[in-house]
Amino acid sequence: MSTNSARCYFNFYSAGRLVFGSGAVKQLASFLAPWSPRKVFVIGDRTLEQAGVVAQVTHPLTDAGIDLRVCLDGEPEPTFAVADKVLAAAREFGPDAIVAVGGGSNMDLGKITAAVLTHGGSYRDYVNYGKVPGPVLPLVCLPTTSGTGSEVSHAAVLTDQANHIKVSILSQYLRPAVAVVDPTLTLSCPAKPTADSGIDALTHAIEAFTATAYNELDVPATEPFPYDGKHPLGDVCAEKAIALIGQHLATAVQEPQNLAAREGMSLAATLAGLAFSNCAVAVVHALEYPLGGAVHVSHGAGNGLLLPYVMRFNLPARTKELARIAALLGEDTAGVTDAVAAERAIAAVERLRAAIGIPNRLQELGVTRDQLPTFATKAFGIKRLMLLNGRRPTETDLLGILEAAW
Ligand SMILES: NC(=O)c1ccc[n+]([C@@H]2O[C@H](COP(=O)([O-])OP(=O)(O)OC[C@H]3O[C@@H](n4cnc5c(N)ncnc54)[C@H](O)[C@@H]3O)[C@@H](O)[C@H]2O)c1
Ligand SMILES: [Zn+2]
Repeated sequence: MSTNSARCYFNFYSAGRLVFGSGAVKQLASFLAPWSPRKVFVIGDRTLEQAGVVAQVTHPLTDAGIDLRVCLDGEPEPTFAVADKVLAAAREFGPDAIVAVGGGSNMDLGKITAAVLTHGGSYRDYVNYGKVPGPVLPLVCLPTTSGTGSEVSHAAVLTDQANHIKVSILSQYLRPAVAVVDPTLTLSCPAKPTADSGIDALTHAIEAFTATAYNELDVPATEPFPYDGKHPLGDVCAEKAIALIGQHLATAVQEPQNLAAREGMSLAATLAGLAFSNCAVAVVHALEYPLGGAVHVSHGAGNGLLLPYVMRFNLPARTKELARIAALLGEDTAGVTDAVAAERAIAAVERLRAAIGIPNRLQELGVTRDQLPTFATKAFGIKRLMLLNGRRPTETDLLGILEAAW
């Protein structure tokens, strides 16, 4: 919640406990011990099972004598149908805790499952902010990509196939009880999800860092609002994340077994998750929701494609912040004006995007020009993300960004 009158007022939420470190997964049973669960529902997917990642999570739990049900029905960018399937399996088992292992897709399924098993009803009732009625079953999230930050965030995203859009369920109750960020779990992550999720993390950090400030956010303090806007503690997380991504993302994509790069990216993704889920995501994410609902593209690749175009739109209002981003990404900004440095930030993101194989034109995704006005209208309808953007767009502005990206 933000307030316009206070010079400095913000919240900072995270997972209840955040454990970071290579090998941390081996202690998984001890992280669950405060809840003494007897029955744990594990959400993963078949790809992760084949990669041996699911076993790394289940072994410490079975060794501790916990009764497990492993559900491998997770899928990338989960639809309502996928969520329904996972929920049915969970209901049938009746767990007292949930463990989600995977990228944002499986972790988000974990959040939805925990909410619905605790409070009943349908996750459709929980779409938008503040609809989850109270605390949910203990949820432990273990990220295997380095991107979404879902392990610490208040968000769960599903694809509404009927309406061709992604929807967000946002609640502070959805922050996991424990986030176990073990970079070794990302070693098997293939180049594409590493690239896509990594540039998603960069988008989170940049959108938080260039967002509307907490004391300029045009939302009454009494109105429930899922973000506080840009604030000092979020900035600390975002700045560190941007620097780490500049240092490590290309290496993590090109040398998957490079543990230093994986550790750098895991830390960056979690920090970016803390930044965005407390401060903001904005126009890049707003445009990705209809894009990802209409064509087959991962959340990260869609964001990565759009990011430099939105940075260019934001430049007049966020020149200083973009200049800082250039320096954080390792650009030489000595002796140049902020305007010149800000251009270098955009160029640096474009180079990184190319180096890791993210497309730079909507046409490459099969988007037709006549789809753009619908994307603009749908994105403009996500009011919270319009308010949070560092430069407030009109619907025509959004169309202009999309045309530039087409
Ligand atoms: N809740 C949030 O805060 C939040 C934030 C951003 C994005 N999201 C959502 O997260 C989803 C995207 O998540 P993602 O980018 O992490 O990818 P993902 O979870 O969709 O995973 C992509 C693919 O990579 C595979 N994979 C992941 N890790 C692997 C590993 N270590 N080894 C082998 N294969 C591996 C998965 O099995 C899957 O097939 C989208 O639905 C997006 O909307 C959520
Ligand atoms: Zn994202």
